[in-house]
Amino acid sequence: MQHFIVIGNPINHSKSPEIHHAFAASVGLPICYQRQLCPDNFDSFVAVVLAFFAGGGKGANVTLPFKQMAHQLVQSQGEISDDARHAGAVNTLMIKNGKLYGDNTDGRGLVADLQAHGITLANKKVAIIGAGGATRGAILPLLSTGCSLDIYNRTIDKARQLLEQFNHPALSARPLSDLTTARYDLIINATSATTTGQTLTLGNCQASAAYDMMYGKPSEFLAHFQHQGAATFDGFGMLIQQAKLSFELWTGKMLDLDKITLP
Ligand code: ATR
Repeated sequence: MQHFIVIGNPINHSKSPEIHHAFAASVGLPICYQRQLCPDNFDSFVAVVLAFFAGGGKGANVTLPFKQMAHQLVQSQGEISDDARHAGAVNTLMIKNGKLYGDNTDGRGLVADLQAHGITLANKKVAIIGAGGATRGAILPLLSTGCSLDIYNRTIDKARQLLEQFNHPALSARPLSDLTTARYDLIINATSATTTGQTLTLGNCQASAAYDMMYGKPSEFLAHFQHQGAATFDGFGMLIQQAKLSFELWTGKMLDLDKITLP
């Protein structure tokens, strides 16, 4: 029996145990995947992670508010993937070559979900709103598809910092106020506005497809583009795809989502 956990605070809402048990059942692997509440400080987080792997744990997912702490931990005593290093955040932990290893599957999960929805990105104009951790993790996976990417943020300096950090010719930074007259093939909401119930100023912005990284709450962002007849998607598919990538990394078993009944 292989053991897995998802570490967060709060953690009761996490759907990861049900998702991973469904994945494991589809490939006939007996697993135990549990929620792990952890006090919100670095020392407690490190103690939980090290005890879990010392006890033979196979893999851990990391969710709010610990993704940056996990990044700090693997940087100081382990190995980090390129995606996790660029994102400044880790959502997947395991032991690799005897060392703690941290990856971030969120950005690749986003791109995989867009592809699963039939959205092709090569040579397309894509906008992403927000300049926090969610955007940081998505930038390179999105650019790797060959699209151009405009980052819009309320606080323009944060978008400019990302531009400097990633230094890619297809990337640009704009103030959120510029969005009102823009037109895109795809627009992505990576702000926390949907979760906190705040309004995003979208003006007359138009897009053929819109994606809200959040899920489980009514999205004013998606409603804006639905009225234009755009194809709209919430972030539930991204949750499934990032989980699929973690599971495949941990177990080496490839999943066929068409054959899995999700919770
Ligand atoms: P995460 O790590 O989940 O991306 P974060 O680092 O707190 O979260 O970043 C939240 C992002 O949502 C920021 O880009 C924030 O904009 P500012 O940098 O200007 O604060 C953005 N955001 C949150 N609420 C918003 C709102 N009502 N309108 C516009 N942007 C908003």
